[in-house]
Amino acid sequence: MMESCRSVALALHVLVLLIWALCMQQSAALKAGVAKVDATLPVGVPLAGFSARKTKFWPIPRPTKYTTFMEPSVGHLDPTWTKALVLKDDDGTELCIITFDGIGADGALRKLAYYKAAVLGFPLPLSNVIMSGSHSHSGPGAVSPEFLWEFAPATDLIVPELQNMVAEKMAEAMMTAYKQLAPASAGIGVSQLFNVTKNRRAGVSPFLKPTDIDPNMAIISVDSADGKPLATVWNFAIHGTCLGSKNLNSSADIMGAANAAIESLVGGTALFINADAGDIAPTGATCDGNAERPHFAGADIIAAHVKEARSDVKVYSDLQLQLKSQLIDFGLTDLNLTLARVQNCSSGGPLDICGICEFLNCDLHLRLDSSWVEEMPRFTAVKFVHGSNTDILVTVPGEALSGLGFEIRADMKKLGFDSLVLAGYSNDHMGYFATVQEYDVGGYESLLTFWGSGTAEKIRQSCSAVASALAS
Ligand SMILES: *[C@@H]1O[C@H](CO)[C@@H](O)[C@H](O)[C@H]1NC(C)=O
Ligand SMILES: *[C@@H]1O[C@H](CO)[C@@H](O)[C@H](O)[C@H]1NC(C)=O
Ligand SMILES: *[C@@H]1O[C@H](CO)[C@@H](O)[C@H](O)[C@H]1NC(C)=O
Repeated sequence: MMESCRSVALALHVLVLLIWALCMQQSAALKAGVAKVDATLPVGVPLAGFSARKTKFWPIPRPTKYTTFMEPSVGHLDPTWTKALVLKDDDGTELCIITFDGIGADGALRKLAYYKAAVLGFPLPLSNVIMSGSHSHSGPGAVSPEFLWEFAPATDLIVPELQNMVAEKMAEAMMTAYKQLAPASAGIGVSQLFNVTKNRRAGVSPFLKPTDIDPNMAIISVDSADGKPLATVWNFAIHGTCLGSKNLNSSADIMGAANAAIESLVGGTALFINADAGDIAPTGATCDGNAERPHFAGADIIAAHVKEARSDVKVYSDLQLQLKSQLIDFGLTDLNLTLARVQNCSSGGPLDICGICEFLNCDLHLRLDSSWVEEMPRFTAVKFVHGSNTDILVTVPGEALSGLGFEIRADMKKLGFDSLVLAGYSNDHMGYFATVQEYDVGGYESLLTFWGSGTAEKIRQSCSAVASALAS
């Protein structure tokens, strides 16, 4: 009697352990890994973002070790990082997000980084890798090959040695993040942050006021199995233009300072994905200095907001991922560079398109091919599912004006998605995407909208094409 009781107890014990192990396995279905690598380039590289950093006699080249048309950097203000977050759900669907403190995401750089990572053993397909440039205007240039940006000069002529350096750092981040994959939980939430940004077209467009911003901030919160913050992806529309063209020290600008502040306030790694920042600039107060922070005072406000918003995001260890990625051909540009359209250019902007127009004598309808600007962008949508809740991330290959951002937000709602991560400046960089209304007003962002007045609509349809493939 005693003996059989004992064996029944033992069997029950084993059963309980088995059920517990199964439950643990189920509740630990999601895995995450994250890594950050300092990708600061040597002093003397061009800094990408302002054509006012061109040499005195541009377009006559004045080559140095790393520069051709632009002044070389003279130092570093703060590091420019590349970071990677890998997520894997229990079906084995994998996603890698790479962020980079630079002017934009370039398709050639993305592929180079990917192939370097693949050689190291990184197993995800290229289509499951999203690269986002923070849009800092003081990050490294000379790492992308499109001639329009090289010559403008926004990025300066590519230096393969520098492109390789950055790609290697990205590959290292991707591989390290992949090796770190461990049980985790994740979730997405959207909150709103006002008063750190302003609409910079308010003086140009009769339709816009300085307060016409996109205040939406999406957060992807990733915690380790023991509930500690592992990664915080924050997605917000803000230009990285606190430092102006006179600054020749490399820097991750306001978003870099905010990342650092988030990491010290929240813990874990902070990754920034810009949104529809085509017309959204930081306010003066955001860029001011204070006693503790010589630049970027607003970084602390952003970090405090992220911390609070993150605490409201529910995370799930059984979050499911679905992914749809597609190349979409935009064809040759439909670029109307006539003196008439350049009229409103005095509004300014980081790239001296008026100067270029004058130089080219500017009576042009330019049908530029892919050696000038990327034309076959990759659009990726990622659906995050928990219960009946479905959130979506969708990429935009450049600078959507906030008007377009709101249209995409409305489209995603109509498709039935709850929260949206609007991943601008991601995968490729095709310039600005002005809505028809802003295209017709003209000005800087309009002139750098390269596929005519239908550009924004084509971007919008492309986002919907990948997202609707995932809609229930
Ligand atoms: C802050 O944002 C709100 C909402 O747009 C606006 O009403 C208010 O005027 C802003 N305050 C400042 C100081 O900009
Ligand atoms: C270019 O823009 C000007 C000024 O808006 C307009 O008059 C002209 O028709 C445009 N040309 C083309 C080819 O679209
Ligand atoms: C310049 O902007 C004004 C509105 O601010 C607009 O009426 C005008 O058509 C614009 N000119 C061009 C060439 O785009």
